[in-house]
Amino acid sequence: MDDNIKQDNRAIFATKFGAIATTVGSAVGLGNIWRFPYEAGVHGGGAFLVCYMAFVFAIGVPVLCAEFCMGRGTRSNIFGAYRKLLPGSFWHLAGYIGIIASLLILSFYSVVAGWTIEYCVTSLFGQLDFSDKETGHMQFMAMTTGWRPILWTIIFLLCNFFILLGGVTKGIERASNVLMPLLFILLVAFCINSFTMPGFKEGISFLFHPDFSKITPSVLLGAMGQAFFSLSLGLGCMMTYASYFSDKSRLGKTAVTTALLDSVVAVLAGIIIFPAVFSFGISPEAGPTLVFEVLPFIFNQLPGGEIWSTLFFLLLFLASLTSTVSMSEISITYFCEEKKMSRKKALTVSSAIALIGGLLCALSFGPLSDVTVFGMTFFNLFDYASSNVFLPVGGMICSIFTGWVIDRKFLKDQLTDRGTFRFPMLSLLVFCLRWICPAAIFLILLNSTGLL
Ligand code: PHE
Repeated sequence: MDDNIKQDNRAIFATKFGAIATTVGSAVGLGNIWRFPYEAGVHGGGAFLVCYMAFVFAIGVPVLCAEFCMGRGTRSNIFGAYRKLLPGSFWHLAGYIGIIASLLILSFYSVVAGWTIEYCVTSLFGQLDFSDKETGHMQFMAMTTGWRPILWTIIFLLCNFFILLGGVTKGIERASNVLMPLLFILLVAFCINSFTMPGFKEGISFLFHPDFSKITPSVLLGAMGQAFFSLSLGLGCMMTYASYFSDKSRLGKTAVTTALLDSVVAVLAGIIIFPAVFSFGISPEAGPTLVFEVLPFIFNQLPGGEIWSTLFFLLLFLASLTSTVSMSEISITYFCEEKKMSRKKALTVSSAIALIGGLLCALSFGPLSDVTVFGMTFFNLFDYASSNVFLPVGGMICSIFTGWVIDRKFLKDQLTDRGTFRFPMLSLLVFCLRWICPAAIFLILLNSTGLL
Protein backbone atom coordinates (compact mmCIF):
# COMPACT_ATOMS: atom_id res chain seq x y z
CA MET A 1 0.00 0.00 0.00
CA ASP A 2 1.50 3.37 -0.83
CA ASP A 3 1.98 5.99 1.79
CA ASN A 4 -0.88 8.21 0.75
CA ILE A 5 -3.43 5.55 1.22
CA LYS A 6 -1.94 4.51 4.47
CA GLN A 7 -2.11 8.10 5.65
CA ASP A 8 -5.59 8.33 4.36
CA ASN A 9 -6.71 5.25 6.20
CA ARG A 10 -5.00 6.31 9.39
CA ALA A 11 -6.77 9.62 9.37
CA ILE A 12 -10.11 7.87 9.32
CA PHE A 13 -9.26 5.37 11.98
CA ALA A 14 -7.92 8.09 14.23
CA THR A 15 -11.05 8.44 16.33
CA LYS A 16 -12.01 5.88 18.93
CA PHE A 17 -15.42 5.53 17.34
CA GLY A 18 -13.79 5.00 13.96
CA ALA A 19 -11.66 2.20 15.37
CA ILE A 20 -14.67 0.41 16.80
CA ALA A 21 -16.91 1.07 13.80
CA THR A 22 -14.40 -0.35 11.34
CA THR A 23 -13.62 -3.45 13.37
CA VAL A 24 -17.29 -4.11 13.96
CA GLY A 25 -17.88 -3.44 10.25
CA SER A 26 -15.39 -6.17 9.41
CA ALA A 27 -16.72 -8.58 12.01
CA VAL A 28 -20.43 -8.17 11.39
CA GLY A 29 -21.52 -9.57 8.07
CA LEU A 30 -22.79 -12.73 6.48
CA GLY A 31 -20.91 -14.63 9.16
CA ASN A 32 -23.46 -13.54 11.74
CA ILE A 33 -26.65 -13.53 9.75
CA TRP A 34 -26.08 -16.32 7.25
CA ARG A 35 -23.32 -18.56 8.60
CA PHE A 36 -24.14 -18.57 12.31
CA PRO A 37 -27.75 -19.81 11.92
CA TYR A 38 -26.77 -22.44 9.39
CA GLU A 39 -23.89 -23.76 11.52
CA ALA A 40 -26.04 -23.69 14.65
CA GLY A 41 -28.77 -25.53 12.74
CA VAL A 42 -26.42 -28.25 11.53
CA HIS A 43 -24.76 -28.65 14.94
CA GLY A 44 -27.72 -28.98 17.24
CA GLY A 45 -28.66 -25.41 18.20
CA GLY A 46 -28.16 -24.76 21.92
CA ALA A 47 -25.08 -26.95 22.31
CA PHE A 48 -23.45 -25.08 19.44
CA LEU A 49 -24.35 -21.68 20.89
CA VAL A 50 -22.77 -22.52 24.26
CA CYS A 51 -19.54 -23.73 22.63
CA TYR A 52 -19.48 -20.77 20.26
CA MET A 53 -19.84 -18.24 23.10
CA ALA A 54 -17.17 -20.00 25.13
CA PHE A 55 -14.77 -19.82 22.17
CA VAL A 56 -15.55 -16.18 21.45
CA PHE A 57 -14.60 -15.12 24.95
CA ALA A 58 -11.93 -17.67 25.91
CA ILE A 59 -10.07 -17.71 22.59
CA GLY A 60 -11.52 -14.98 20.38
CA VAL A 61 -11.04 -12.00 22.69
CA PRO A 62 -7.44 -12.91 23.68
CA VAL A 63 -6.41 -13.51 20.06
CA LEU A 64 -8.17 -10.30 19.04
CA CYS A 65 -6.15 -8.41 21.68
CA ALA A 66 -2.98 -10.08 20.43
CA GLU A 67 -3.70 -9.16 16.79
CA PHE A 68 -4.52 -5.60 17.84
CA CYS A 69 -1.25 -5.28 19.76
CA MET A 70 0.82 -6.68 16.91
CA GLY A 71 -0.89 -4.50 14.31
CA ARG A 72 -0.86 -1.24 16.18
CA GLY A 73 2.56 -1.84 17.74
CA THR A 74 4.27 -2.42 14.40
CA ARG A 75 1.97 -0.47 12.08
CA SER A 76 2.43 -3.19 9.48
CA ASN A 77 0.61 -5.88 7.58
CA ILE A 78 0.75 -9.45 8.89
CA PHE A 79 4.15 -10.25 7.32
CA GLY A 80 5.72 -7.01 8.44
CA ALA A 81 4.31 -7.35 11.94
CA TYR A 82 5.95 -10.71 12.59
CA ARG A 83 9.14 -9.59 10.88
CA LYS A 84 9.47 -6.35 12.82
CA LEU A 85 8.85 -8.07 16.13
CA LEU A 86 11.35 -10.86 15.48
CA PRO A 87 13.61 -10.06 12.54
CA GLY A 88 15.27 -12.93 10.77
CA SER A 89 12.87 -15.58 12.02
CA PHE A 90 10.38 -17.73 10.15
CA TRP A 91 7.26 -16.54 12.02
CA HIS A 92 6.19 -14.25 9.22
CA LEU A 93 5.37 -17.34 7.15
CA ALA A 94 2.09 -17.31 9.10
CA GLY A 95 1.24 -14.50 6.70
CA TYR A 96 0.75 -17.04 3.91
CA ILE A 97 -1.97 -18.74 5.91
CA GLY A 98 -3.69 -15.39 6.18
CA ILE A 99 -3.47 -14.68 2.49
CA ILE A 100 -4.70 -18.07 1.36
CA ALA A 101 -7.54 -17.96 3.90
CA SER A 102 -8.57 -14.47 2.88
CA LEU A 103 -8.76 -15.42 -0.80
CA LEU A 104 -10.70 -18.61 -0.07
CA ILE A 105 -13.17 -16.69 2.07
CA LEU A 106 -13.49 -13.90 -0.44
CA SER A 107 -14.40 -16.51 -3.08
CA PHE A 108 -17.37 -18.14 -1.39
CA TYR A 109 -18.40 -15.00 0.50
CA SER A 110 -18.87 -13.17 -2.80
CA VAL A 111 -21.23 -15.88 -4.00
CA VAL A 112 -23.44 -15.56 -0.94
CA ALA A 113 -23.26 -11.78 -1.14
CA GLY A 114 -24.30 -12.21 -4.79
CA TRP A 115 -27.42 -14.06 -3.62
CA THR A 116 -28.27 -11.10 -1.39
CA ILE A 117 -28.10 -8.78 -4.39
CA GLU A 118 -30.35 -11.08 -6.38
CA TYR A 119 -32.87 -11.29 -3.52
CA CYS A 120 -32.74 -7.53 -3.10
CA VAL A 121 -33.40 -6.87 -6.77
CA THR A 122 -36.10 -9.53 -7.12
CA SER A 123 -38.00 -8.30 -4.10
CA LEU A 124 -37.64 -4.71 -5.26
CA PHE A 125 -39.52 -5.69 -8.40
CA GLY A 126 -42.10 -7.62 -6.42
CA GLN A 127 -41.05 -10.99 -7.79
CA LEU A 128 -40.08 -12.73 -4.61
CA ASP A 129 -42.83 -15.26 -4.02
CA PHE A 130 -42.55 -17.40 -0.91
CA SER A 131 -46.16 -18.15 -0.20
CA ASP A 132 -45.39 -21.76 0.68
CA LYS A 133 -42.47 -24.03 1.37
CA GLU A 134 -42.34 -25.59 -2.09
CA THR A 135 -42.46 -22.30 -3.99
CA GLY A 136 -39.82 -20.89 -1.68
CA HIS A 137 -37.54 -23.81 -2.27
CA MET A 138 -38.06 -23.84 -6.03
CA GLN A 139 -37.42 -20.14 -6.21
CA PHE A 140 -34.22 -20.43 -4.27
CA MET A 141 -33.06 -23.32 -6.43
CA ALA A 142 -33.88 -21.42 -9.60
CA MET A 143 -31.81 -18.50 -8.39
CA THR A 144 -28.78 -20.40 -7.23
CA THR A 145 -28.38 -23.55 -9.25
CA GLY A 146 -27.93 -22.28 -12.79
CA TRP A 147 -25.34 -20.00 -14.28
CA ARG A 148 -26.98 -16.83 -12.96
CA PRO A 149 -25.11 -16.70 -9.65
CA ILE A 150 -21.99 -16.07 -11.72
CA LEU A 151 -23.40 -12.76 -12.81
CA TRP A 152 -24.18 -11.67 -9.25
CA THR A 153 -20.82 -12.86 -7.98
CA ILE A 154 -19.10 -10.78 -10.64
CA ILE A 155 -21.25 -7.77 -9.81
CA PHE A 156 -20.41 -8.12 -6.14
CA LEU A 157 -16.69 -8.45 -6.81
CA LEU A 158 -16.86 -5.36 -9.01
CA CYS A 159 -18.48 -3.38 -6.18
CA ASN A 160 -15.73 -4.58 -3.89
CA PHE A 161 -13.12 -3.64 -6.50
CA PHE A 162 -14.38 -0.10 -6.96
CA ILE A 163 -14.67 0.61 -3.27
CA LEU A 164 -11.14 -0.60 -2.70
CA LEU A 165 -9.91 1.37 -5.66
CA GLY A 166 -11.24 4.58 -4.20
CA GLY A 167 -9.73 3.76 -0.81
CA VAL A 168 -11.58 2.23 2.08
CA THR A 169 -12.11 5.70 3.42
CA LYS A 170 -14.95 8.15 3.10
CA GLY A 171 -17.74 6.45 1.18
CA ILE A 172 -18.11 3.01 2.61
CA GLU A 173 -16.96 3.75 6.13
CA ARG A 174 -19.19 6.75 6.47
CA ALA A 175 -22.11 4.94 4.96
CA SER A 176 -21.61 1.99 7.22
CA ASN A 177 -21.57 4.19 10.30
CA VAL A 178 -25.15 5.05 9.48
CA LEU A 179 -26.29 1.84 7.84
CA MET A 180 -24.98 -0.66 10.35
CA PRO A 181 -27.03 0.79 13.22
CA LEU A 182 -29.98 0.66 10.82
CA LEU A 183 -29.35 -3.02 10.17
CA PHE A 184 -29.25 -3.53 13.90
CA ILE A 185 -32.60 -1.79 14.40
CA LEU A 186 -34.12 -3.84 11.63
CA LEU A 187 -32.86 -7.04 13.22
CA VAL A 188 -34.39 -6.07 16.55
CA ALA A 189 -37.71 -5.37 14.83
CA PHE A 190 -37.69 -8.77 13.09
CA CYS A 191 -36.77 -10.35 16.37
CA ILE A 192 -39.87 -8.89 18.00
CA ASN A 193 -41.88 -10.16 15.08
CA SER A 194 -40.56 -13.66 15.83
CA PHE A 195 -42.62 -13.71 19.03
CA THR A 196 -45.75 -13.93 16.94
CA MET A 197 -44.66 -17.03 15.04
CA PRO A 198 -46.34 -20.35 15.75
CA GLY A 199 -42.94 -22.01 16.00
CA PHE A 200 -41.54 -19.42 18.42
CA LYS A 201 -41.31 -21.69 21.45
CA GLU A 202 -39.76 -24.54 19.55
CA GLY A 203 -37.27 -22.26 17.79
CA ILE A 204 -36.19 -20.56 20.97
CA SER A 205 -35.81 -23.81 22.80
CA PHE A 206 -33.75 -25.21 19.92
CA LEU A 207 -31.37 -22.26 20.20
CA PHE A 208 -31.24 -21.71 23.95
CA HIS A 209 -31.74 -25.13 25.53
CA PRO A 210 -28.43 -26.85 25.11
CA ASP A 211 -28.42 -30.59 24.98
CA PHE A 212 -24.87 -31.22 26.12
CA SER A 213 -24.93 -34.77 24.87
CA LYS A 214 -24.86 -33.25 21.39
CA ILE A 215 -21.38 -31.81 21.85
CA THR A 216 -19.21 -33.85 19.49
CA PRO A 217 -15.79 -33.13 17.97
CA SER A 218 -17.50 -31.72 14.90
CA VAL A 219 -19.66 -29.37 17.00
CA LEU A 220 -16.54 -28.13 18.80
CA LEU A 221 -14.68 -27.64 15.54
CA GLY A 222 -17.64 -25.90 13.91
CA ALA A 223 -18.12 -23.57 16.87
CA MET A 224 -14.44 -22.70 17.04
CA GLY A 225 -14.31 -22.07 13.28
CA GLN A 226 -17.39 -19.89 13.53
CA ALA A 227 -15.85 -17.84 16.37
CA PHE A 228 -12.75 -17.17 14.24
CA PHE A 229 -14.74 -16.49 11.09
CA SER A 230 -17.19 -14.17 12.74
CA LEU A 231 -14.52 -12.13 14.49
CA SER A 232 -12.40 -11.97 11.29
CA LEU A 233 -9.59 -13.56 13.28
CA GLY A 234 -6.54 -15.64 12.51
CA LEU A 235 -5.73 -14.21 9.09
CA GLY A 236 -4.23 -10.87 9.98
CA CYS A 237 -7.31 -8.87 9.10
CA MET A 238 -7.70 -7.35 12.53
CA MET A 239 -3.93 -6.89 12.66
CA THR A 240 -4.00 -4.85 9.46
CA TYR A 241 -6.93 -2.77 10.70
CA ALA A 242 -5.26 -2.17 14.06
CA SER A 243 -2.23 -0.80 12.25
CA TYR A 244 -4.45 2.20 11.49
CA PHE A 245 -5.66 2.72 15.08
CA SER A 246 -4.43 5.78 16.93
CA ASP A 247 -2.21 5.33 19.96
CA LYS A 248 -5.09 6.46 22.10
CA SER A 249 -7.40 3.60 21.11
CA ARG A 250 -8.00 1.27 24.02
CA LEU A 251 -7.27 -2.09 22.48
CA GLY A 252 -8.75 -4.24 25.26
CA LYS A 253 -12.00 -2.31 25.30
CA THR A 254 -12.24 -2.34 21.51
CA ALA A 255 -11.72 -6.12 21.50
CA VAL A 256 -14.42 -6.78 24.09
CA THR A 257 -16.88 -4.36 22.46
CA THR A 258 -16.34 -5.97 19.06
CA ALA A 259 -16.86 -9.47 20.45
CA LEU A 260 -20.00 -8.43 22.33
CA LEU A 261 -21.63 -6.62 19.41
CA ASP A 262 -20.71 -9.41 17.03
CA SER A 263 -22.24 -12.06 19.28
CA VAL A 264 -25.38 -10.03 19.86
CA VAL A 265 -25.96 -9.78 16.11
CA ALA A 266 -25.45 -13.53 15.70
CA VAL A 267 -27.88 -14.33 18.50
CA LEU A 268 -30.45 -11.88 17.08
CA ALA A 269 -30.15 -13.66 13.75
CA GLY A 270 -30.76 -16.96 15.52
CA ILE A 271 -33.87 -15.58 17.24
CA ILE A 272 -35.16 -14.47 13.87
CA ILE A 273 -34.38 -17.63 11.92
CA PHE A 274 -35.21 -20.55 14.19
CA PRO A 275 -38.82 -19.70 15.13
CA ALA A 276 -39.46 -19.30 11.40
CA VAL A 277 -37.68 -22.58 10.64
CA PHE A 278 -40.03 -24.43 12.97
CA SER A 279 -43.10 -22.47 11.92
CA PHE A 280 -42.66 -23.46 8.31
CA GLY A 281 -41.45 -26.98 8.87
CA ILE A 282 -38.02 -26.49 7.31
CA SER A 283 -35.16 -28.65 8.57
CA PRO A 284 -32.71 -26.63 10.68
CA GLU A 285 -29.99 -28.79 9.15
CA ALA A 286 -30.44 -27.42 5.64
CA GLY A 287 -26.90 -25.94 5.62
CA PRO A 288 -25.74 -22.90 3.65
CA THR A 289 -29.10 -22.45 1.98
CA LEU A 290 -31.08 -22.27 5.24
CA VAL A 291 -31.32 -18.52 5.77
CA PHE A 292 -32.18 -17.74 2.17
CA GLU A 293 -35.00 -20.25 2.20
CA VAL A 294 -36.38 -19.03 5.52
CA LEU A 295 -36.09 -15.26 5.50
CA PRO A 296 -38.49 -14.56 2.64
CA PHE A 297 -41.18 -16.47 4.55
CA ILE A 298 -40.83 -14.00 7.36
CA PHE A 299 -41.12 -11.05 4.99
CA ASN A 300 -44.13 -12.56 3.32
CA GLN A 301 -45.95 -12.47 6.61
CA LEU A 302 -45.27 -8.84 7.31
CA PRO A 303 -47.41 -6.03 5.97
CA GLY A 304 -45.41 -4.32 3.23
CA GLY A 305 -43.18 -7.40 3.11
CA GLU A 306 -41.44 -6.46 -0.10
CA ILE A 307 -40.20 -3.19 1.30
CA TRP A 308 -38.83 -4.96 4.37
CA SER A 309 -37.11 -7.60 2.37
CA THR A 310 -35.60 -5.17 -0.14
CA LEU A 311 -34.26 -3.07 2.70
CA PHE A 312 -32.99 -6.06 4.61
CA PHE A 313 -31.10 -7.60 1.70
CA LEU A 314 -29.71 -4.21 0.78
CA LEU A 315 -28.31 -3.75 4.26
CA LEU A 316 -26.99 -7.29 4.29
CA PHE A 317 -25.24 -6.61 1.01
CA LEU A 318 -23.62 -3.51 2.49
CA ALA A 319 -22.63 -5.39 5.65
CA SER A 320 -20.95 -7.96 3.38
CA LEU A 321 -19.06 -5.24 1.59
CA THR A 322 -17.57 -3.85 4.80
CA SER A 323 -16.35 -7.38 5.52
CA THR A 324 -14.97 -8.18 2.07
CA VAL A 325 -13.20 -4.85 1.95
CA SER A 326 -11.37 -5.81 5.15
CA MET A 327 -10.46 -9.30 3.96
CA SER A 328 -9.24 -7.97 0.59
CA GLU A 329 -6.86 -5.58 2.36
CA ILE A 330 -4.78 -8.54 3.52
CA SER A 331 -3.77 -9.73 0.08
CA ILE A 332 -3.59 -6.20 -1.30
CA THR A 333 -1.13 -5.07 1.36
CA TYR A 334 0.85 -8.26 0.75
CA PHE A 335 1.12 -7.72 -3.01
CA CYS A 336 1.92 -4.02 -2.54
CA GLU A 337 4.46 -4.28 0.23
CA GLU A 338 6.07 -7.65 -0.35
CA LYS A 339 5.78 -7.92 -4.13
CA LYS A 340 6.14 -4.20 -4.77
CA MET A 341 3.04 -3.94 -6.96
CA SER A 342 1.04 -0.76 -7.32
CA ARG A 343 -2.18 -0.75 -5.33
CA LYS A 344 -4.24 -0.96 -8.48
CA LYS A 345 -2.32 -3.96 -9.77
CA ALA A 346 -2.46 -5.66 -6.37
CA LEU A 347 -6.19 -5.12 -6.28
CA THR A 348 -6.59 -6.50 -9.78
CA VAL A 349 -4.55 -9.60 -9.01
CA SER A 350 -6.41 -10.41 -5.81
CA SER A 351 -9.79 -9.73 -7.42
CA ALA A 352 -8.87 -12.01 -10.33
CA ILE A 353 -7.95 -14.84 -7.95
CA ALA A 354 -11.18 -14.31 -6.00
CA LEU A 355 -13.10 -14.31 -9.25
CA ILE A 356 -11.74 -17.70 -10.28
CA GLY A 357 -12.48 -19.10 -6.81
CA GLY A 358 -15.85 -17.36 -6.85
CA LEU A 359 -16.82 -19.00 -10.14
CA LEU A 360 -16.00 -22.44 -8.76
CA CYS A 361 -18.11 -21.72 -5.69
CA ALA A 362 -20.97 -20.13 -7.63
CA LEU A 363 -21.30 -23.22 -9.78
CA SER A 364 -21.11 -25.57 -6.80
CA PHE A 365 -24.87 -25.50 -6.42
CA GLY A 366 -25.53 -26.22 -10.08
CA PRO A 367 -23.27 -27.40 -12.90
CA LEU A 368 -20.39 -28.29 -10.57
CA SER A 369 -22.45 -29.85 -7.81
CA ASP A 370 -21.05 -33.28 -8.57
CA VAL A 371 -17.43 -32.20 -8.52
CA THR A 372 -16.10 -32.84 -5.04
CA VAL A 373 -12.75 -32.67 -3.28
CA PHE A 374 -12.49 -34.56 0.04
CA GLY A 375 -16.19 -35.24 -0.40
CA MET A 376 -17.08 -31.53 -0.49
CA THR A 377 -18.10 -29.18 -3.28
CA PHE A 378 -15.76 -26.25 -3.90
CA PHE A 379 -18.10 -23.98 -1.97
CA ASN A 380 -18.19 -26.25 1.06
CA LEU A 381 -14.48 -26.99 0.86
CA PHE A 382 -13.46 -23.32 0.79
CA ASP A 383 -15.84 -22.56 3.64
CA TYR A 384 -14.73 -25.53 5.75
CA ALA A 385 -11.00 -25.29 5.12
CA SER A 386 -10.74 -21.57 5.76
CA SER A 387 -12.85 -21.39 8.91
CA ASN A 388 -12.07 -24.70 10.50
CA VAL A 389 -8.42 -25.08 9.60
CA PHE A 390 -6.64 -21.96 8.32
CA LEU A 391 -8.09 -19.41 10.73
CA PRO A 392 -7.62 -21.50 13.90
CA VAL A 393 -4.06 -22.38 12.86
CA GLY A 394 -3.34 -18.69 12.14
CA GLY A 395 -4.80 -17.80 15.54
CA MET A 396 -2.74 -20.46 17.26
CA ILE A 397 0.49 -19.15 15.75
CA CYS A 398 -0.43 -15.60 16.79
CA SER A 399 -1.20 -16.63 20.36
CA ILE A 400 2.00 -18.67 20.73
CA PHE A 401 4.01 -15.81 19.29
CA THR A 402 2.53 -13.13 21.54
CA GLY A 403 2.30 -15.40 24.60
CA TRP A 404 5.72 -17.05 24.50
CA VAL A 405 8.03 -15.43 22.02
CA ILE A 406 7.81 -11.69 22.36
CA ASP A 407 8.32 -9.69 25.50
CA ARG A 408 5.28 -9.35 27.74
CA LYS A 409 6.17 -5.67 28.10
CA PHE A 410 5.23 -5.15 24.45
CA LEU A 411 1.68 -6.30 25.15
CA LYS A 412 1.53 -4.23 28.31
CA ASP A 413 2.68 -1.08 26.53
CA GLN A 414 0.14 -1.55 23.78
CA LEU A 415 -2.75 -2.33 26.06
CA THR A 416 -2.08 0.51 28.50
CA ASP A 417 -0.82 3.09 26.00
CA ARG A 418 2.60 2.89 27.71
CA GLY A 419 1.18 3.11 31.21
CA THR A 420 -1.33 5.92 30.57
CA PHE A 421 -4.15 3.76 31.80
CA ARG A 422 -4.53 0.45 33.58
CA PHE A 423 -5.22 -2.91 32.02
CA PRO A 424 -5.87 -5.14 35.02
CA MET A 425 -6.42 -8.31 33.01
CA LEU A 426 -2.92 -8.55 31.57
CA SER A 427 -1.95 -11.69 33.50
CA LEU A 428 -5.18 -13.40 32.51
CA LEU A 429 -4.64 -12.40 28.90
CA VAL A 430 -1.09 -13.72 28.85
CA PHE A 431 -2.26 -16.94 30.51
CA CYS A 432 -4.89 -17.41 27.81
CA LEU A 433 -2.40 -16.68 25.03
CA ARG A 434 0.20 -19.03 26.48
CA TRP A 435 -1.96 -21.95 27.47
CA ILE A 436 -5.67 -21.82 26.81
CA CYS A 437 -5.70 -20.69 23.17
CA PRO A 438 -2.92 -22.86 21.74
CA ALA A 439 -3.94 -25.93 23.74
CA ALA A 440 -7.64 -25.64 22.96
CA ILE A 441 -7.09 -25.01 19.26
CA PHE A 442 -4.56 -27.81 18.97
CA LEU A 443 -6.72 -30.33 20.82
CA ILE A 444 -9.85 -29.49 18.87
CA LEU A 445 -8.05 -29.73 15.54
CA LEU A 446 -6.50 -33.02 16.53
CA ASN A 447 -9.75 -34.32 17.93
CA SER A 448 -11.61 -33.58 14.75
CA THR A 449 -9.13 -35.48 12.64
CA GLY A 450 -9.90 -38.53 14.74
CA LEU A 451 -6.32 -38.80 15.98
CA LEU A 452 -7.38 -38.05 19.54
N1 PHE B 1 -16.27 -11.65 10.04
C1 PHE B 1 -16.90 -11.56 8.77
C2 PHE B 1 -18.36 -11.96 8.91
O1 PHE B 1 -18.78 -12.38 9.95
C3 PHE B 1 -16.20 -12.39 7.75
C4 PHE B 1 -14.74 -12.16 7.65
C5 PHE B 1 -13.86 -13.21 7.83
C6 PHE B 1 -14.24 -10.88 7.40
C7 PHE B 1 -12.50 -12.99 7.77
C8 PHE B 1 -12.87 -10.66 7.30
C9 PHE B 1 -12.01 -11.72 7.48
O2 PHE B 1 -19.10 -11.88 8.00
